[in-house]
Amino acid sequence: MEKAFYNQLIENNKEWVASKLEMDPQYFEKLAKGQQPPLLWIGCADSRVPANEIIGAQPGEVFVHRNIANMVVHSDMNMLSVLDYAVNVLKVRHIIVCSHYSCGGIQAAMTNQHIGLIDNWIRHIKDVYRHNKNELDSIGDQQERFDRFVELNVVEQVYDLTKTSIVQAAWDKGQNLTIHGWVYGIDSGLIKDLDVNFSSDDELGDVYRLSFE
Ligand code: CO
Repeated sequence: MEKAFYNQLIENNKEWVASKLEMDPQYFEKLAKGQQPPLLWIGCADSRVPANEIIGAQPGEVFVHRNIANMVVHSDMNMLSVLDYAVNVLKVRHIIVCSHYSCGGIQAAMTNQHIGLIDNWIRHIKDVYRHNKNELDSIGDQQERFDRFVELNVVEQVYDLTKTSIVQAAWDKGQNLTIHGWVYGIDSGLIKDLDVNFSSDDELGDVYRLSFE
C-alpha cells in the first residue's frame, strides 16, 4: 500500500510533464530561465492548503514559505531569508499571509496539552491569544472563538511582517509592496480576505519604526 503510493508519485510526475509539454513544448525551458513571481505566500504547512492550487497559480507565479500556523517569528532565519530574497531580489509586489480555519496549530495553542518540541513554536501563537485575550475570552461558543483566533493570528502575523527591517527598508526606498491577510475555509474551499492591507509604515507602532537616514 505505502510502496504503491510512493511509486505512484513518480508516475504522476511523468504524466504531469507530458501534459505540460503537450500544451507547450518549451514549457520547462522557459521556466528554467528564471523566476519573477509577483507574490510571496506565507501559509500553513497543512496538507489541505496547497498554495498554488487554491489560487489557480502556475509554476513561476508564487514564492512560497509554509510553516505550522503560518507564523512570522522575528528570529526565524528561514522565514527572514525567504522574506529577504522575495522582497529584495525577486521584488514581489504582494505578500499574503494565508491561514485556514480548523488549523491544528491554532487549536493546540488553545489547549494546555504538552506535545513536544513543538510546544515552543505553539507558544508564539499563545502570545497572540494573550494580546487578544479580552476579545477571545468574551466569545462563549468554542467554535466561534477558535475561528476568530485563526483570524486574529493572521492579523498579528501581518503586523509582524510590517515590523521587520526588510519590509520597512523596502517601503523606505519607495518599493511597491502590499501585505494582505487571508483565511482559507477547508470545508468550503473559499478564501476570506480579512481586509488588513498595509503598503506603508503609517500604522506601525512608533516603538517598532526604524529610521533609515
Ligand atoms: Co494549519
